[in-house]
Amino acid sequence: MTPRVAIIGAGPCGLSQLQAFEQARLKGADIPEIVCFEKQADWGGLWNYTWRTGLDEYGEPVHGSMYRYLWSNGPKECLEFADYTFDEHFQRPIPSFPPREVLYDYITGRAKKNNLRRYIQFSTVVRQVEFGEGQFRVRVKDLVADQERVETFDFVVVATGHFSIPNLPKFEGIEQFPGRVLHSHDFREAREFAGKDLLVVGSSYSAEDIALQTYKYGAKSVTISYRTAPMGFKWPEGIEEVPLLTKLEGKVAHFQDGSSKKVDAIVFCVGYQHSFPFLEDSLRLKTKNRLYPGSLYKGIFWLPNPKLMYLGMQDQFYTFSMFDVQAWYARDVMLGRIALPPYEEMAADIAHWQAREESLANPFEQIDFQKDYIVDLADQVDYPSCDWELTTELFKAWEHDKEQSILGYRDKVFRSPCTGTEATVHHTPWIEAMDDSLASFLGN
Ligand SMILES: Cc1cc2nc3c(=O)[nH]c(=O)nc-3n(C[C@H](O)[C@H](O)[C@H](O)COP(=O)(O)OP(=O)(O)OC[C@H]3O[C@@H](n4cnc5c(N)ncnc54)[C@H](O)[C@@H]3O)c2cc1C
Ligand SMILES: NC(=O)c1ccc[n+]([C@@H]2O[C@H](COP(=O)([O-])OP(=O)(O)OC[C@H]3O[C@@H](n4cnc5c(N)ncnc54)[C@H](OP(=O)(O)O)[C@@H]3O)[C@@H](O)[C@H]2O)c1
Repeated sequence: MTPRVAIIGAGPCGLSQLQAFEQARLKGADIPEIVCFEKQADWGGLWNYTWRTGLDEYGEPVHGSMYRYLWSNGPKECLEFADYTFDEHFQRPIPSFPPREVLYDYITGRAKKNNLRRYIQFSTVVRQVEFGEGQFRVRVKDLVADQERVETFDFVVVATGHFSIPNLPKFEGIEQFPGRVLHSHDFREAREFAGKDLLVVGSSYSAEDIALQTYKYGAKSVTISYRTAPMGFKWPEGIEEVPLLTKLEGKVAHFQDGSSKKVDAIVFCVGYQHSFPFLEDSLRLKTKNRLYPGSLYKGIFWLPNPKLMYLGMQDQFYTFSMFDVQAWYARDVMLGRIALPPYEEMAADIAHWQAREESLANPFEQIDFQKDYIVDLADQVDYPSCDWELTTELFKAWEHDKEQSILGYRDKVFRSPCTGTEATVHHTPWIEAMDDSLASFLGN
């Protein structure tokens, strides 16, 4: 019997898995029967922008965490698909830091070219996955027809992302705060905060970008409150970093260093939880956001049952290209081209990578670590060649650019590790580019 593969999610990771199988099929391989379940009405995952927050039209939790005016925070050259380059998609060089709509167009462009839609059941949420007698029982709900059914599969690939379910600690006095309080998951429109004094709690990418974004669209001031360490960028006047919020008294926020500030609204940029409520407990990955989550051999295979795979569960410098390499590797295991070693060997390999991760001293070492992880996978599959060493150089230059100018780093240009093409300079500096549409970006 032809084996059956369930892919849960048609975001970038799920689409990478479909692409990997499709490439094998086009080269003459017998591929399994593949069904991809996607709870949203369209593909693209987080890149498929939604205005909704809270619950969707079916009462399901809204997946989207992206917001209007979001631009790539890393150079596009570091995430380029080696089998579908930016040159191929846009037919001309474009700038290095595109806004969301442009990257959505790129991701879905490859999926359209290969007609991957035919594998996907949209508006279909996976409710439960159980394993027994060598197979997975997958209960899904067709949200439009309002009907549930159960199907069996030999392999399950979890590609549901991990930036959708908010982590949200409580702070004293928050119940009485007389203004808007939200998690970055629910942030959509920066203009809402124009003229306001905003407090942003957190010190990673969401905090950085939402602070910049609200500043760009007219916030009166942005105070960023950090727990472990400040980001330390050369912020423009109007943005400052302070230690952790200790309590709120009315509109006044108090911080660990004894300082205080009156604020009108608070955005908690305190990260997300890896959450898989649809998996039975014995299949469920439990991890914080890190470069090498535990119990995943090669960062993919669920150690207690490697017929269950996870894609993209790492903290991410690399994104789309890393997802591709993972998907190619997972595919080759499912096709029987790569044999997995015994349990003890897999466990030792995970421990080895985690020990190295724990010794990393700075972002440069973290970038090298994730590159080494990717190369380890890429070397064993037929993913098209790509200059991975160049991507690390680009990431390091990008880190440097951010230190130099947090408002200006998105104006820099980079060279493609796939085609060698040099990006073009955008017609408008990022800080002045208010229109983030694809048409405006491409200058059409
Ligand atoms: C605010 C924000 C900005 C980002 N910006 C960048 C950026 O600039 N550059 C970059 O490279 N990366 C960025 N990222 C990182 C992002 O994680 C990746 O780019 C990418 O979207 C991850 O793809 P994914 O497929 O793993 O997950 P997702 O994109 O989250 O897709 C998962 C899919 O699974 C579906 N799904 C979930 N649960 C179920 C279920 N039970 N049943 C069926 N379907 C389900 C969802 O509907 C969704 O379509 C950003 C992330 C966030 C939160
Ligand atoms: N394109 C873009 O511009 C853009 C914009 C936003 C996000 N993103 C992406 O989105 C992903 C998620 O980023 P993220 O910043 O949301 O999550 P994240 O990188 O996991 O960071 C979580 C942050 O929350 C802080 N935190 C956690 N618990 C806290 C607590 N109790 N009190 C105070 N602070 C707390 C952490 O502080 P500690 O350091 O103390 O642990 C950390 O700074 C990343 O992949 C990023 O690239 C991209």
